[in-house]
Amino acid sequence: MATRSALRIRAPGDAAHLGVLEGASDADDILHPESRSGPTIEKERGMNKPTILLVAGARPNFMKVAPVWRALEATGKFSLVLVHTGQHYDDNMSKVFFDDLRLPRPNAHLGVGSGSHAGQTARVMLAFESAMMDADPDLVVVVGDVNSTMACALVSVKLSVPVAHVEAGLRSFDRTMPEEINRMVTDILSDLLFITSAEARDNLMREGVDPAKIHLVGNVMIDSLHFYATAAAASPILATLGLEGSRYGLVTLHRPSNVDDTMVLVPLLEALVRIGEECPLVFPVHPRTRAVIERVGIEVQADRMRLIDPLGYLDFMKLMRYSSIVLTDSGGIQEETTALGIPCLTIRDNTERPITVTVGTNRLVGTGPKRIVSEALDVLHHGVAGAKIPDRWDGNAAPRIAEVITRFLYEQS
Ligand code: UD1
Repeated sequence: MATRSALRIRAPGDAAHLGVLEGASDADDILHPESRSGPTIEKERGMNKPTILLVAGARPNFMKVAPVWRALEATGKFSLVLVHTGQHYDDNMSKVFFDDLRLPRPNAHLGVGSGSHAGQTARVMLAFESAMMDADPDLVVVVGDVNSTMACALVSVKLSVPVAHVEAGLRSFDRTMPEEINRMVTDILSDLLFITSAEARDNLMREGVDPAKIHLVGNVMIDSLHFYATAAAASPILATLGLEGSRYGLVTLHRPSNVDDTMVLVPLLEALVRIGEECPLVFPVHPRTRAVIERVGIEVQADRMRLIDPLGYLDFMKLMRYSSIVLTDSGGIQEETTALGIPCLTIRDNTERPITVTVGTNRLVGTGPKRIVSEALDVLHHGVAGAKIPDRWDGNAAPRIAEVITRFLYEQS
């Protein structure tokens, strides 16, 4: 097969431009417009109803918060407050998700933006403390493992407000991952730990967590996958990208360990270009990855690997559902592909979601280009056999969470 694919690295400082990538964020416009109003919370206080504050900060939080919000609202027993920390602020990392998921406008947007880990965490903590004073909640619900998750959990317990952690107990056992530290700290601080699989219980109990706090409820990401399936099916993304009826693979890469160092990133991109010769790839590029690509001046000249801007939730779900293979270093995508039965190659040396490998469609393939290419070709030629959907990944995790929270807030002395 004729190879028209290549990677070109230009000298740093050259004005690099990368085909279809567009829309680098404007420094003057990094805050979501909602953040400009400041963090004052206006909420409707239900008579004698406990107040629950839900935190959303970054892209992978939004599809987890939405079903929990809906399930808590459906009980009619709580006043709900939604706080967006503003960790993610680009429209295509945040606003489009609020629109797609039909999440209510946040009661407060803290507008913390990007920064070093300490800087971002500290800004979330300071702003969230004020939001807590305004909202005076009876419970704070945090989801996932981003910096906002840990920062808000820490502020809450310091104010003696109990914390519920959705997606607790996941462990990669890799402390170089910022998320691993966020997971460990959040879990040890939480009063209610909602887990997606039995391994999480073992992890938590090994760390001394009281088993009475742990609830195996299933996976709220899969609640969203089910709930928005019809809306996702209506997405025009396949037609927009000219992929209707075509075989293609889907790529995401954003872990600092994969993208921040070009000695790692460039060989990974070369491996993807090679896989693209076998099966065309679509690669929605995360802003972190885009920043490195643009800074170093990597020009991907590959007819069969398209780099596009990040996609909204519904478009991405549609693209994933019809893909032949997914190559990713994301956590959540390992779970979504397992639920959809789509072969997934995880470009990492470890996963905090081992059930997607033992039960689901996921293969952990490391970051070496040779292995990634050979595993991809194997999957493309032979598929994956024997995959199942894990227990309780059935679309009803959030109602189970609402039940436990209702008992916790109404029956505690
Ligand atoms: C964060 C989470 C990670 C999650 C990922 C999903 C932490 C430690 N990491 O990583 O667990 O998998 O979100 O996306 O919380 N940027 C923008 N626009 C945005 C957001 C970020 O341009 O809306 C750029 C900025 O250059 C920023 C960089 O992306 O410095 C990284 O953003 P940050 O929130 O620090 O971490 P993520 O890599 O997105």
